[in-house]
Amino acid sequence: MLIKHTKKSQLKESQLTSESIYKDRRNIIKGFGLAALALPFAKPASAGLFDSFTGKDDASGDFQRTPLNFTKNPDYQSLTDLTPENKVLQYNNFYEFGTGKGDPYEHSQQFKVDPWSLTIDGLVDKPMTLNYEDLLKKFEIEERLYRMRCVEAWSMNIPWLGFTLATLLQQAGVKSDAKYVRFETVYDPEQMRGQRSRFVGGSINFPYVEGLTIEEAMNPLALLSVGLYGKTLAPQNGAPIRLVVPWKYGFKSIKSIVKITLTDKAPRNTWQAIGPHEYGFYANVNPLADHPRWSQRNERVIGEGNVFQQERKPTLMFNGYEEEVAHLYKGLDLLKNF
Ligand code: MTE
Repeated sequence: MLIKHTKKSQLKESQLTSESIYKDRRNIIKGFGLAALALPFAKPASAGLFDSFTGKDDASGDFQRTPLNFTKNPDYQSLTDLTPENKVLQYNNFYEFGTGKGDPYEHSQQFKVDPWSLTIDGLVDKPMTLNYEDLLKKFEIEERLYRMRCVEAWSMNIPWLGFTLATLLQQAGVKSDAKYVRFETVYDPEQMRGQRSRFVGGSINFPYVEGLTIEEAMNPLALLSVGLYGKTLAPQNGAPIRLVVPWKYGFKSIKSIVKITLTDKAPRNTWQAIGPHEYGFYANVNPLADHPRWSQRNERVIGEGNVFQQERKPTLMFNGYEEEVAHLYKGLDLLKNF
């Protein structure tokens, strides 16, 4: 007989977000006249209060998301209080479209996701290129409710649609000398205003790059997402395909991926390259390892009330996914390997 244990990561939480946070942010920004002052989160005083957030009520000009066929993965359905869809769609980090929380939504609605080309290459038996239709049709799509924790100390609960990264890597056939997986976001300055201007794009050297060890990449939690809330992804969330690694800070979950390369060398990820003392390769959620500018002990749940009065809750080791991933880091000093 199969005995099912409830994992710590499946426990309930109370997290709600209201419209008011967006309106409040907009009013605060307008009041201070700081809408244009968008700083990268690598630099001091960038996150939180002065994000150039502009919530929009009229969704008529929005990118059209398509409903997807999927099954609900029963192991990842127990987060009951999901972040409302419009908050997931309008409070974003995607520096290719600007550094303010409202910029990705505001400036990405015309972004073209079809045609798309995702290449899997490097140390694999069968290098492959997937087109837009492959991304949505080639793999069984499942729904998983995951927590997301940003290094800026805010969090959301999101119903993702996608397939495991391991499924894709197994199809490509990982060679035995592959030790790391390198991910790259599309480079398309014509469509991405942040890639045209260092001021708009937070001084990032695009394309945005991320990396995982091969063990992390093969962990069943690592998801390639093609949708959320029952439909394909919106551009601001990383359409048409993005990574979701819920035990790591949100910046590891790279958006709009065009290249996945298996390699024997540790890739240097974008934020690590900008601030090696602030951002490491692993970036595992760890309440005991403070970021120089943000205590990581607690997190602001995107919820009721204005930006100054957010509900906070204690941050969990590995964002609550300790049971699933702690074994990956056995013997590693997580304060040094942050
Ligand atoms: N991927 C790219 N290409 N560019 C980015 O700026 N921001 C990261 C991550 N992926 C980012 C990215 C950060 S800092 C976070 S917190 C998450 O995306 C936010 O995902 P969301 O906007 O869908 O909530």
